[in-house]
Amino acid sequence: MIVCICRAVSDRAIRSARDAGAGSVEAIGAATGAGTCCGCCRGTIARILAEPRAGVPCVVAPSRDEAEHLGAGLEVDARADAPSEAVPLRAAADQLKTP
Ligand code: FES
Repeated sequence: MIVCICRAVSDRAIRSARDAGAGSVEAIGAATGAGTCCGCCRGTIARILAEPRAGVPCVVAPSRDEAEHLGAGLEVDARADAPSEAVPLRAAADQLKTP
């Protein structure tokens, strides 16, 4: 799929540049030309850069809604008295079921 119409750059070319080490929208632009004309595609380039990848640790925790939607992820308990570490979603759900 073409992401950058101005420079005719595909999502594959952007992912390839990302995998080769281009870690920012500017770096993608330098490597491929994408995002260097009108700028309309820069948001899409940023979203491609933010995609989770196999073998690359996730540095952004999913939101509560995203974790609940996934069903098996981790959830951070936002209560003021809760421990700050993430707790398994299933264990948190079990706690809510306990009368
Ligand atoms: S669509 Fe990418 S710079 Fe214009």
